Amino acid sequence: MSILIKNGRVITAESDYLADIFVEGEKIVAIGKNLPHAADRVIDAADKLVFPGGIDPHVHLDMPFMGTFSSDDYTTGTRAALHGGTTMVIDFILQTQGDTLHNALKTWQEKSKDKAVGDYSYHMAVTDFNDEVAKEVVQMIEEEGITSFKTFMAYKGALMIDDGQMVELMKVVKANGGLVTVHATNGDMIDALIARHRAEGKLSPLYHYLSQPEVTEAEASGRFADMLHYTGCPGYIVHMTCEGALNAIRLATRRNQKVFVETCSQYLVLDASLYEKDFDGAKWVMSPPLREKKDQTALWSGINQGLVQVVGTDHCPFKWEQKLMGKDDFSKIPNGHPAIEHRMELMFTEGVRSGKISLNKFVEVTSTNAAKIFGMYPRKGTISIGADADLVIFDPQKEHTISVDTHHMNVDYSGYEGWKLTGKTETVVLRGKVAIEEEKCRLEPGYGQFIKRGKTSLVI
Ligand code: URP
Ligand code: ZN
Ligand code: ZN
Repeated sequence: MSILIKNGRVITAESDYLADIFVEGEKIVAIGKNLPHAADRVIDAADKLVFPGGIDPHVHLDMPFMGTFSSDDYTTGTRAALHGGTTMVIDFILQTQGDTLHNALKTWQEKSKDKAVGDYSYHMAVTDFNDEVAKEVVQMIEEEGITSFKTFMAYKGALMIDDGQMVELMKVVKANGGLVTVHATNGDMIDALIARHRAEGKLSPLYHYLSQPEVTEAEASGRFADMLHYTGCPGYIVHMTCEGALNAIRLATRRNQKVFVETCSQYLVLDASLYEKDFDGAKWVMSPPLREKKDQTALWSGINQGLVQVVGTDHCPFKWEQKLMGKDDFSKIPNGHPAIEHRMELMFTEGVRSGKISLNKFVEVTSTNAAKIFGMYPRKGTISIGADADLVIFDPQKEHTISVDTHHMNVDYSGYEGWKLTGKTETVVLRGKVAIEEEKCRLEPGYGQFIKRGKTSLVI
């Protein structure tokens, strides 16, 4: 099977030019003007943008959490991602405390086997570190192609590790060429604030937000950076939301430290006023919570300053019935919101069209940097000869409206109902096969492949 994409405006993290792209099998084999190649399929991309397939390195599919499971599985989640131009996701395996990493890996392999439509990989969340787990960390890197290890500084009793375990994990990960990632919030402080609010009968979603003030994230981000500095381990902070946390990393750069930072599309475009809508605010109960307008400004600036390298989603959807588990108590509302489908289009409208970021920066933060940080570049994350043919043909003028009636995620509301966007994913190619066209998915569950990863190659 071969595809010739003609006359597109090709955008990568570094370049912007008009060209044809010839795809054969799973790979890009030629790029140039007026390519002479005969192809099984010709796609006219005149007046369209052609991007590398989006990579969302922060999603939770079919994840057991807070007494239920996130509502998108590997089929519905990766398919919805493709509709929005994201061709690859990285999900989180959760070690059960007291059990092994290998058992957790087996569970996630069963969840994804023959189910993924788009490509995927796993981060391994280490929730219980000891000498046996240390040996497994090495095996994950050397044998399984899982090179990033997620840690939680919150969710005590289920996922959180203490600072002693963190430092020991960092030492073994550094020695073996991996990366430690973190949910950086001060779990003890948050638990105390939750307990106080509950005791005072303050039970609405607003108190989820008030239980996680900015300082809880700023403190933990700084502490994580200090532990990285002490151990020399490379690190990555997931879902950063606020100015205080960003400034903690800015400070770390003054001792020439390099810490990768991810924010998520929701923190760039939504704010905490949504928690004032009584129980409707449960749609946006996530951790950390949405913040203030001044934090959005800081994050957009952080992207342009190179302090924030990645925009993911932390896609963790729950149906309304699941959110109702917390109707009388905010602390029982499953944390997370649906976003996997809208990241690229939201970033295009709110970032590129509004003049906050350039087209090259858009590609960098939605695809290229994730591929580099998580050891997949240049196979993924760019448009170059020899790369996987993961391509998005994007109509920059097309207007559309986000709605639960038209989205593809397995969730019965939208956190963005009625949002008007300009710029839409038109055709998506994944490893040489047309995945999305005319708003239909052309690939079956099982096409999506597990992608083994190597070492970080991004230099900041
Ligand atoms: O609210 C969130 N973020 N849910 C998913 C788990 C996590 O902390 O990333
Ligand atoms: Zn988290
Ligand atoms: Zn998450």
